[in-house]
Amino acid sequence: MKIVLATGNKGKLREFKQMCKDEVVGFTELLGEIEIIEDANSFKGNALIKARTIYEKLSKEYLVVSDDSGISVPLLGGEPDIYSARYAGVGATDKENLQKLINNIQAKGVERTPAYYTASIAIVSQHGEYVVHGWMHGEVITEAKGEKGFGYDPIFIPTGYQQTLGELDDEVKKGISHRAKALMLAKPIIEMLGRS
Ligand code: IMP
Repeated sequence: MKIVLATGNKGKLREFKQMCKDEVVGFTELLGEIEIIEDANSFKGNALIKARTIYEKLSKEYLVVSDDSGISVPLLGGEPDIYSARYAGVGATDKENLQKLINNIQAKGVERTPAYYTASIAIVSQHGEYVVHGWMHGEVITEAKGEKGFGYDPIFIPTGYQQTLGELDDEVKKGISHRAKALMLAKPIIEMLGRS
């Protein structure tokens, strides 16, 4: 079965490739760069937009998997949530988004506060559409630590740990992440669709 990931995000792609035994390819390897307008108001809606857009450009034997994800900070009314990739503006880098989140938390007068990541994974094939979700809870701090992971990982400390995901081994994140949990639910669906 040909599994295509509807993401151009290198961090996500790396994590998916580590977690999937099947051969997975990023859509850019098949289709080049494509701009996808993610204008839904939920992770689920945006995950479906990405998977449908790529599926419609490929032939029917492909199964397309997308991930829409982000971090939410209740102290900030849930921000940045679905705007995680463009928190500091469209085209902002991971570092700029991270810095904006740090600044906004500091402006509230705290050094750490609860936060959680959400991942919605959509699966689109000729047999239909499915969406599953995973979450990872923890805290965010106002000092970036470590170079591992991507995005907001240098300020995120998962519940039960003392270090940020920027400092912890990739193996740790693989066992507890929002993406890993959603993928665990997605795998049986992908296998079922592969047999259909
Ligand atoms: P998307 O590609 O539109 O789904 O945007 C996801 C954004 O959420 C990324 O650019 C990151 O800023 C953030 N994000 C999602 N998952 C993670 C993660 O596992 N670690 C760090 N940041 C993440």
